[in-house]
Amino acid sequence: MSRIFSLMLAGLVLYTSPAMADTLKIGVIGAGKVGGTLGTLWVKAGHSVMFSSRHPEALADLVKEAGPNARAGSVTEAAAWGDVIVLSVPYGAMPALSEQLKGKLDGKVIFSTSNPFGGRDADVGRKALDMGVALADQQYLPGVHLVRAFNAIGFASMKGLSGKNKAIPVFADDAQARDIGVRLVRDAGFVPVLFPLARANEGLPGGPLSGVWREADLKQRRGVGELCQNVEATCAEAR
Ligand SMILES: NC(=O)c1ccc[n+]([C@@H]2O[C@H](COP(=O)([O-])OP(=O)(O)OC[C@H]3O[C@@H](n4cnc5c(N)ncnc54)[C@H](OP(=O)(O)O)[C@@H]3O)[C@@H](O)[C@H]2O)c1
Repeated sequence: MSRIFSLMLAGLVLYTSPAMADTLKIGVIGAGKVGGTLGTLWVKAGHSVMFSSRHPEALADLVKEAGPNARAGSVTEAAAWGDVIVLSVPYGAMPALSEQLKGKLDGKVIFSTSNPFGGRDADVGRKALDMGVALADQQYLPGVHLVRAFNAIGFASMKGLSGKNKAIPVFADDAQARDIGVRLVRDAGFVPVLFPLARANEGLPGGPLSGVWREADLKQRRGVGELCQNVEATCAEAR
């Protein structure tokens, strides 16, 4: 009896998992150059996107251009609405967003393109660079499934190189973040190559994993042999 119940429960979890859904509801926080470009690519790929802003009324043109599955909302509306939340803000906004969204993102996948810079983002940026950007993200947003991607490709190339078989690194550790991250990178027209979150600083602008790649070259940077000794799943994907 309890086995049947477990199987039903497992089926329900699989059925309701965002990773399994045909299309995703993507809440974009920071609908500027990057959030606007990626969100538009995802609408074209069939997903539903809520672009958000502290001034959502300013997003009318973007919503119109993206297509019928796009809408606009406030930052808290997008955080509540999305199965996946794309965070595309200057890193200096992280402390304020952390306060504003406290407890509202628990258990969600956060897909961050947000980069810390020592100049633009002052102390907040320097601290994140020093401790490691993924660790900093998780301190600002505890309890989320974090994936980082599109951190070191210019927003114009996100559009211009979409569909051209170019690879970019995707940094994630847990299965949900990895599945959604890989899927969203593919649906934006790029080839995802997985790396652990601990290497996320290498994917920042100017880092050894920045830019766009041939898939084979980027995979070489992953040190496949090393990973295979420890993580069977990553090993299988790497081949
Ligand atoms: N530009 C690129 O080519 C590129 C490439 C890769 C990664 N990145 C990184 O991606 C992030 C976004 O870059 P971007 O070029 O798209 O910047 P952007 O055009 O300036 O857009 C950033 C957006 O962040 C929002 N924002 C700022 N402070 C906020 C806060 N406290 N709460 C909520 N939203 C806030 C702003 O929205 P509202 O003012 O409408 O609220 C703005 O639209 C940055 O971390 C950047 O380093 C940029």
